[in-house]
Amino acid sequence: MSHPLKPIRVLMVCLGNICRSPLAEGVLKQVATQHGFQDRVEVDSAGTADYHVDDLPDRRSRQVASMHGFELDHVGRQFKRHDFERFDWILVMDDSNYRDVISLAKSESERSKVHLITEFDPTKKYGKIVPDPYYGDLDDFIEVYRQLECCCEQFIRKVLSQADR
Ligand code: 4NP
Repeated sequence: MSHPLKPIRVLMVCLGNICRSPLAEGVLKQVATQHGFQDRVEVDSAGTADYHVDDLPDRRSRQVASMHGFELDHVGRQFKRHDFERFDWILVMDDSNYRDVISLAKSESERSKVHLITEFDPTKKYGKIVPDPYYGDLDDFIEVYRQLECCCEQFIRKVLSQADR
């Protein structure tokens, strides 16, 4: 008898959990759906800071999402230690997010879950981090979307197709 594959649990992390990580959550869900993997991946997002707990995503992230046919309904929350147990992959946007999350890890197994999302960008044309667009304009959010789409496409290809083998 075949057993259903356990979904891969992915947490997107940025600083405020209103601009980059909720958009990354939405992009990964959309890309997974486009590849028929919507039941194989569970996606959430969190911020290292608590400035925007309970807030909806920034209106510019929501605008970019709706330009691409999906809605962002995430409610802001702060990254907590228990997230190391709840997720298989913790994908951070920049070096400062990386340091903040790693500083909470207590074992090699927890540390090994934390990756810069840009590790998955096969084009490498966007640089080593996903830049914070908070003080920028809509064009900066559109650029973040394009970068996240490249990273999420490759993540689905590498991680989910490997898990199938
Ligand atoms: P995010 O952007 O980390 O991509 O959600 C930010 C949102 C809010 C703030 C900083 C960055 N803030 O300072 O309130």
